[in-house]
Amino acid sequence: MGYKVVVVGATGNVGREMLTILAEREFPIDEIAAVASSRSHGTEIEFGDSGKMLKCKNIEHFDFTGWDIALFAAGSGPTAEYAPKAAAAGCVVIDNSSLYRMDPDVPLIVPEVNPDAIDGYKKKNIIANPNCSTAQMVVALKPLHDAATIKRVVVATYQSVSGAGKEGMDELFEQSRNIFVGDSAVAKKFTKQIAFNVIPHIDVFLDDGSTKEEWKMVAETKKILDPKIKLTATCVRVPVFVGHSEAINIEFENEISASQAQDILREAPGIMLVDKREDGGYVTPVECVGDYATFISRVREDSTIENGLSLWCVSDNLRKGAALNAVQIAELLGRRHLKKG
Ligand SMILES: NC(=O)c1ccc[n+]([C@@H]2O[C@H](COP(=O)([O-])OP(=O)(O)OC[C@H]3O[C@@H](n4cnc5c(N)ncnc54)[C@H](OP(=O)(O)O)[C@@H]3O)[C@@H](O)[C@H]2O)c1
Repeated sequence: MGYKVVVVGATGNVGREMLTILAEREFPIDEIAAVASSRSHGTEIEFGDSGKMLKCKNIEHFDFTGWDIALFAAGSGPTAEYAPKAAAAGCVVIDNSSLYRMDPDVPLIVPEVNPDAIDGYKKKNIIANPNCSTAQMVVALKPLHDAATIKRVVVATYQSVSGAGKEGMDELFEQSRNIFVGDSAVAKKFTKQIAFNVIPHIDVFLDDGSTKEEWKMVAETKKILDPKIKLTATCVRVPVFVGHSEAINIEFENEISASQAQDILREAPGIMLVDKREDGGYVTPVECVGDYATFISRVREDSTIENGLSLWCVSDNLRKGAALNAVQIAELLGRRHLKKG
């Protein structure tokens, strides 16, 4: 016996990836519904590569009663309207937007890091999925924190355009094509030209000069991993279609060598260490597309501080940063709380 699962935002980057991953991981499903806005009503979407086509339903007329789990990837606006309705109908919501992440009554989960926090989901019947940059970073930080206690993290991100949805990917494609044929590159989704450029600005600016994306990395790391960790981030959009990269510098309470860190990371859940210290002996975003792992390379000691390490971290933002993590949460929920059969 399986679950009745709804994917909300099924026509989007994350929603499509959710359908693929549910099928790939053979999530026990009795019935599946693809839901999006009225614009997509009737659009056909394949469930993984099973050949099974799903007709997209309009969320305005969708009744969540009798459904077990709803994976939401539709942005904060639609989530604010429909997630409470789904939750009230008894359907557990696993949400990808930022709306509920810092709500004290909503667990914010990365299954490799804080699985026990899921037990608090019943307060609202909602579980939040973290920001894509936070998810891969905390997978990398957790085993090192357990070994040597992290005091402070300095991170710079190199985030792909798929993190900004379908429109972000279209804009990089169109600008690149236009520049090649001598046309101008018009910025619509991003604030400046993204093709052949980098933009040090993701989400809105805050009063202190940081951006909301940077604030999310700070606040979400504290909620998921440890409120005592100090973190400063610079989040940058780069002209890569899929895959977020991060240069992470970590200061620890206790001594830890690069080789000790490599040994720990090699054994850690969700991590693939690729660290050969030679030409090509590291991972780049194009190589991590379609993979489940968070890849770590370039682990080295930072001699400018006591107990410091630097490393390079890459992952598929649509997978570990969103869809995979959400499906892993659904699996955890099934094992701990919604047992079937
Ligand atoms: N991309 C990432 O790396 C990433 C990572 C973590 C979290 N997230 C979050 O995941 C969510 C989806 O992101 P995405 O990248 O998949 O965006 P996207 O590609 O732009 O897709 C948006 C989806 O939401 C649906 N939608 C929009 N308005 C709706 C409404 N009023 N009612 C119902 N459905 C509506 C769209 O349906 P239509 O096609 O019908 O418009 C589409 O299916 C966002 O909250 C985002 O912040 C994304």
